[in-house]
Amino acid sequence: MPQARLPQETPNIKTPTPGNDQGIPTPTGDIGPEVYRARRRKVLDEMGSGVAVVYAADSISTTKRQDLDFYYLTGLEYEHGAALVLAPEHPQYQEQLFLRTLEVEDNRWHGNRPGLGRAVELGTGIARVMRTAHMPYALNQTILQTKSRELVYLGGFATYNAPISKELKLLRDLQSRILNSSIRDASDILPRLRSIHDEAEIAVMQKAIDATVEAHKAAMRAIKPGMNEAQLLAVFEEVIHKHGCRRFAYEPIIGSGPNNSVLHYTANNRTINAGEVVLCDVGAEYQMYAADLTRAFPVDGTFTQRQKDVHNVVQEMWQATVDMCKPGVTWAELNDKSKEIVDKAGFSDQNYHSLGHFLGLDVHDAGHNHKPLEPGMIITIEPGVYIAEEGIGVRTEDDILITETGYINMSKDLPRSADEIEAFMAT
Ligand code: GLY
Ligand code: MN
Ligand code: MN
Repeated sequence: MPQARLPQETPNIKTPTPGNDQGIPTPTGDIGPEVYRARRRKVLDEMGSGVAVVYAADSISTTKRQDLDFYYLTGLEYEHGAALVLAPEHPQYQEQLFLRTLEVEDNRWHGNRPGLGRAVELGTGIARVMRTAHMPYALNQTILQTKSRELVYLGGFATYNAPISKELKLLRDLQSRILNSSIRDASDILPRLRSIHDEAEIAVMQKAIDATVEAHKAAMRAIKPGMNEAQLLAVFEEVIHKHGCRRFAYEPIIGSGPNNSVLHYTANNRTINAGEVVLCDVGAEYQMYAADLTRAFPVDGTFTQRQKDVHNVVQEMWQATVDMCKPGVTWAELNDKSKEIVDKAGFSDQNYHSLGHFLGLDVHDAGHNHKPLEPGMIITIEPGVYIAEEGIGVRTEDDILITETGYINMSKDLPRSADEIEAFMAT
């Protein structure tokens, strides 16, 4: 067994992704290894005892992303098949990382990966890094060295018709082999931590949002009758790439005419006609973090009176609920307020989704939405009214940071009300 070497000073090695000349697994973005270490420390503290496992995704591609809990705790975007083991009671190794086996042929196809050693310890910030082939034995040893023999479950719960999570299955397999072991539910820890964003994270999310704001502005400038929805999408894509974003945070929705009332419309292939409203729900991903913004704007720069009336109701719902955003407020209170306004306006049946969600690594991010809002949370506020038979679907969506005293609208620079949008499109 190697000696415990807990790297106290981990340099932020800005090694790009595998395929570079070193291939050292390490956080590659603006958030340094010390932030990931602090996050792991918090989870260890909150666990208090026992042993937990967080698996990386089984595979990673341009569309299949890293497991988000694993990424949150390690910053390793390209290590698939890996596993993080956390054991607060362990005398030497509170954190252990298992990386998938190194295969020489694999390097030809997926880029160079180095052998284990000090560089990998420093790059990952984890003192004990081994290959997954050693995980069964090492995990048993780790559990047997913890007094409690608790197997701690950090993951969420699958519905009864979905597969049991890999982590829970592992804990059950371990429990059936290790006498006196028990499984403890600690599934509330990670959603709570992930929903409260630290400064470094807020800065990264602001970049995703800024890129998205610019993309929406470019789309408002570019739109004209006769354009295909796909062509408008290309405008968004070009701008987010120019701002250093590699991909969208979710499947974009470019819904014109009848499509603007289809909540999850993603075909994005219709010709946009004069006089129509186009609803664009598009968000960039920057360094794994999501932005999520929606605007509904007139194809030819001016709303009809009816379109404007609907837009104004949505604006009223948006303003009233954003004004309420501060610590202590609940999602239920926010939803009630938006319902109150839409009911009064006579559009109760044309408003059929909830007001918003947590935003972070995932577009619908982890968090406890039955609890009051807290400083550091980033949420979306996205009221909508959809009159499908008139081709008027309007949603306005912004990304709101909850502060100690209230909120900051992180997407405030994107024209919002019908008047602001018309004025912007006229320039
Ligand atoms: N773009 C997905 C959502 O707004 O929730
Ligand atoms: Mn949203
Ligand atoms: Mn959205």
